[in-house]
Amino acid sequence: MSRNPQIDARARAILSRNDRGGYTVPTHGLYPFQWNWDSAFVALGFAEIDRNRAWLEIETLIGAQWDDGMIPHIVFHADDDGYFPGADVWATGKTPPTSGITQPPVLATVARQLWAMEGADPAHPRLRAVYDACVRSHRWFHRYRDPLGNGLVMVTHNWETGRDNSSEWDNALERVDITQVGPYQRRDIGHVDTAMRPHQHEYDRYVAIMQFGRAAGWDHRRIAESGPFRMVDVGLSMELLRANRDLLAMAQALGDDAVADELRARIALSETGMDWLWNEQAGAYCSRDATTHDSSGLVTNASFLAFYAGVGSPAQRARLVAALDRMAGSTAYLLASLEPGSRDYDHRRYWRGPVWLVMNYMIARGLAEQGHADWAARITEDSARLIENAGFYESFSPETGEGSGGAEFSWTAAMWLAWCGK
Ligand code: SER
Repeated sequence: MSRNPQIDARARAILSRNDRGGYTVPTHGLYPFQWNWDSAFVALGFAEIDRNRAWLEIETLIGAQWDDGMIPHIVFHADDDGYFPGADVWATGKTPPTSGITQPPVLATVARQLWAMEGADPAHPRLRAVYDACVRSHRWFHRYRDPLGNGLVMVTHNWETGRDNSSEWDNALERVDITQVGPYQRRDIGHVDTAMRPHQHEYDRYVAIMQFGRAAGWDHRRIAESGPFRMVDVGLSMELLRANRDLLAMAQALGDDAVADELRARIALSETGMDWLWNEQAGAYCSRDATTHDSSGLVTNASFLAFYAGVGSPAQRARLVAALDRMAGSTAYLLASLEPGSRDYDHRRYWRGPVWLVMNYMIARGLAEQGHADWAARITEDSARLIENAGFYESFSPETGEGSGGAEFSWTAAMWLAWCGK
């Protein structure tokens, strides 16, 4: 049963307008290419309209997978000079052109859902290629991005986290040398209000980190060992653990015993390893610097992915629920990307406060699975109200509900169709 057929129609129209034929742009103008995790979530929206198109979105993405297994964060299928940094700046030399970094590994979780919707048949004709791509991508993370050997995920660029300007990265970014960056022109602030985007001093650092990768010839071993930004991200660590569980379900169905064993070992390692991210003082899982081992000490929406990942002792979960309760008390809409009152919290500025519907979706799903149906329902209801009141924005103020960033956003439309608008 749909919550509102008129809003359904608008959501469908957004997906159709942002469809570039086999892939979807996150939004017109601001993000004119294919983005990795956007496409995964968009596939869930398409699955409500056209299953074939949903699989195609993912297949187009994995078509850009690197030989080393990395699924890139941007695929530049067509030229567009309205975005910086474009394909020529990344200079990865791939066909199709791509960026040189990755993004949150939510693909296996989405693929399992699409497959389950169609009966979870191991002989499903679209499953094998996507499954193989996920196995290779997860192995890439295990091989290149687990420097401490504890089953967590290190990122080498804040763009990999998807939570670009989260305050969690501030201290690490402060240490990035920007003296060699040179002139460049940002394009993002030509599309949306500057107050909703990262500050210039942050952007300079994003560019410097990218330039390091390019100078390293996108050698992922070298970047992981000596790159200027090395953070163990709570978001990717939780998302990969969850994705490994979903990949394991597919491996078992396919009778791929060797991969299933490998994944079981990996899951066990991550379940134990996750405690390294627990910050007792904050009462939450927080990202930690892989070089200095400093914890951010910040409660972000990514902290609550613990439920989705299926980790946390009863005491740890109780503290997370207490934090949720606090955030429900201090904002009108769950769930802010940074706890209000934290350093540089700003209800309009990208990942320093605004609510993101794909995060809400993962968090609500995890809460429902782990016995917190009431909180899951509250987050789902708040998400639907944000869209009803403001439209399909990239993100929303947790205080006023106003939209921020790009409008007519694909993954927000997808979340309405696949989740909160149902
Ligand atoms: N979200 C990034 C941007 O703002 C890139 O992934 O351009």
